[in-house]
Amino acid sequence: MKQGHKGVRILFAGLLLIASAIADAEPVRLTVQVDEGKPISPDLVGVFFEDLNYAADGGIYAELVQNRSFQYSPTEQPDWHPLKFWDLEQRGDGSGSLTVADMRPIHPNNTLYAILTVNTPGEGVGIANGGFDGIPVKQGECYNASFWAYQAFMGRMWGRGDNSKPMPVTLRLETNAGKVLAETSFDIQGRTWTKYAAELVPSETVKDARLVLLAHEQGGICLDMVSLFPQKTFRNRPNGLRADLAQAIADIHPKFVRFPGGCLVHGGGIHQYYDWKDSVGPVEQRKSEHNSWGYSQTKGFGYFEFFQFCEDIGALPLPVVTAGVCCQHAGSSPNRGQEGLPMDEMPAYIQDVLDLIEWANGPADSKWGAVRATAGHPEPFGLKYLGVGNEDAITSIFKERFRMIHDVLKQKHPEIVVIGTVGPFASGSDYDAGWAFSNELGLEMVDEHYYVNPEWFWENLERYDSYDRSKAKVYVGEYAAHDRGKRNTLRSAMAEAAGLIGFERNGDVVRFSSYAPLLARRGHTQWTPDMIYFSGTEVYLTPNYYVQQLFGQNSGDRYLKTTLDSGDAGKLTASSVVDSPSGELIVKIVNGEDEPTDIDVRLAGLPDNASMNAIRTVLTGPGPDAENEDAKTPVVKPVSTHISVEQAFSYQAPANSLTVFRIRK
Ligand code: AHR
Repeated sequence: MKQGHKGVRILFAGLLLIASAIADAEPVRLTVQVDEGKPISPDLVGVFFEDLNYAADGGIYAELVQNRSFQYSPTEQPDWHPLKFWDLEQRGDGSGSLTVADMRPIHPNNTLYAILTVNTPGEGVGIANGGFDGIPVKQGECYNASFWAYQAFMGRMWGRGDNSKPMPVTLRLETNAGKVLAETSFDIQGRTWTKYAAELVPSETVKDARLVLLAHEQGGICLDMVSLFPQKTFRNRPNGLRADLAQAIADIHPKFVRFPGGCLVHGGGIHQYYDWKDSVGPVEQRKSEHNSWGYSQTKGFGYFEFFQFCEDIGALPLPVVTAGVCCQHAGSSPNRGQEGLPMDEMPAYIQDVLDLIEWANGPADSKWGAVRATAGHPEPFGLKYLGVGNEDAITSIFKERFRMIHDVLKQKHPEIVVIGTVGPFASGSDYDAGWAFSNELGLEMVDEHYYVNPEWFWENLERYDSYDRSKAKVYVGEYAAHDRGKRNTLRSAMAEAAGLIGFERNGDVVRFSSYAPLLARRGHTQWTPDMIYFSGTEVYLTPNYYVQQLFGQNSGDRYLKTTLDSGDAGKLTASSVVDSPSGELIVKIVNGEDEPTDIDVRLAGLPDNASMNAIRTVLTGPGPDAENEDAKTPVVKPVSTHISVEQAFSYQAPANSLTVFRIRK
C-alpha cells in the first residue's frame, strides 16, 4: 500500500517537473530579415484537376443528368450499358419500349441514341433519369432543360403512329414519388436531329428529383443529349460549372490549374489517351467514353471550359498531354507495361499537340483558333506552359518519344515552357533518370510527385535547399500527406503546410505546386484522401483545403530570410514573404507539435518602435486526428483576428496549427 503511495508521489513529482519545464521553456526566437530577400515564384500555389472520384461528371460539371447521351458501356462497369440510369416510364395504361440504336447518330463521335416507342400512350410513355444520386433542385431557381430528337420512322401502314403529325411530349421535373415540380411541353416533328430547349422552375426544393420526358401519342421518337443544367452556374456560363465547387476552388486563389489529369491523360492503354480534340466544339459532338477511373467521362467539361475557368479565376492554364507512351501499369502486352505509340503515328500525334497550341493561342482565323473563336473566345487564351508526360517510367521508349515532341515544340514554339516528368516518386530510379534526362535536354521545368506519410514532410523540410539553381525549375505537381487510414486529419494538413514552407523558402526553384487529388464525390471515390469532398448539395472542406487556401491567399513574390533559433528541431517551421503589389509582409508559422510553442518574433530591419496593423489567421483544431466531417460545422477552419504588431512581438503558436500574420508595413 505504502509502496503504491510512493509510486504515485514520484509520478506526480515527475509530471510537475515536465509541466514546469514546459512552462519555463525559453521561447523560440523567430527572426525575419525584412531587408534580406530573394525573388520567388508568385505562382507557387495552384490546383490539379483530374476527372477522378466523379470530379467532372457528377461533380464540378453542372450537368444534372447522368448518361445524357446514352453512351455508357460495360467497358466502364460490368453492369453498365447505354440505357443505364434511364427508366422506361409507362404511365396509366401506357405501354411502349426503349431501345438503343446507332444507325443515324447525331454525330460520329456520339454514336448511340435512344428510340422510344409508344404502343399505347395511356398517361404518357417515356424516360426518366435520376441524375447522380438524385437530381438536386431548388425552389424558384431556373434550370435549362434540353434534348435532341427526331421522329422515328414508324409508318402508318404498320399501325404504329403517324409521322405526318407531330409527337407531343412533356418534359418534367418530378419528385421521386411522381409529384410534378415543373413542366413544359413540345411537339417533336421531322426526321432530322433538332434541339428542343426550355426553362424549368421547380415549385419545391428537393435533393432527389427526376427529369421525366413523356410522349403522348402512338409512334416513336429518337432521343439524345437529354440535359438539365442549373442556370446559376459559376459566372453564369452556359455548359458551365457547379457554382459552389468552382467557388471553393477560386477561393484558394490558385495561380494555375493543371488539367485534365494524371493517369487519365494516358487512359488505359496506348491508344486510349485523352485526346483534347474530342473535348472541344458543340457538346453533342464530343466523345463520351470511359475514363481510367472506372466510369464515364462526357468531356462536357472539356478544354474550352477548362481554359475559360482559368480565365474566370485568374489562373494560368497548365494542360498536360501524354509523351506518346501509355502508363507503365497499363499497356496491352501480356504482362502489361509501358508501350509507345508506333513511330509512324508520332508525326500525327505531335501535330495534335501543335494544334492544341494553335487552338489556345492562334489567331481567330487560324484553323484551330477558329474552333476556339466559334466557341465564343476569339482572343487567344495565352497558353504558356505545357506538361508532357505524367509519372512515366523513364525508359528508352519514353525518352525517344518525349525528345521528338520536345524538339518540335522548342523549334516551333520556343515561347512555351515544356514541363517534363521525373517519375511517380520523390526519389528512386525514375526520379534519377528523369532528372538526368531533363539535364540532358535542358528542360526548363520538371514535375515531381509524392504521396507520403506526414513524417516524410517533416523529415524533408530542407529537400529543395540544396537543389541546383542552374537546372530545371520544379513543379510539385501532385503531393499529399497520407496519414493513418488515409484520412484528412489536421496532422496531415500540418505536414503539407510544413512542406509548403519549404517550397516557399525555395520559391526560386519550386515554381508551382498542387495538392492531389482535388475533388471527390462522397460515395464515388476511387482515391483518398482528397482536398474537397462533395455531395449533390454540400461541399466539405478539409483541413488540407484550408492549408492550400491560406498559402494561396497569402502568397508572395519575394522570400525574406527567416530563421528559427531552434533550427529545424521539432515540428516547428516558418517562412516569410512579401506581396509586392500590396507591400504586405506575410509570416507563416507551422507548429506540428501536440503542445503550444512560445515564439518571440522579430522583424529585423524595421524601426524598433514600428507598430503595424495585421491580420492573424490561425488554422487549428481539437487535436491532430481532427477531421471536418460536417460541411456546416467544420472543426478545423481558419479564424482571423485584426491585431497590431510591433517590430518584436510574442506569440504562442497553438498545438497543431498554421498561423499566418499578414502585416501592413
Ligand atoms: O492523383 C491521383 C493519381 O496519382 C494521378 O492520376 C496520378 O498521376 C498519380 O499516380
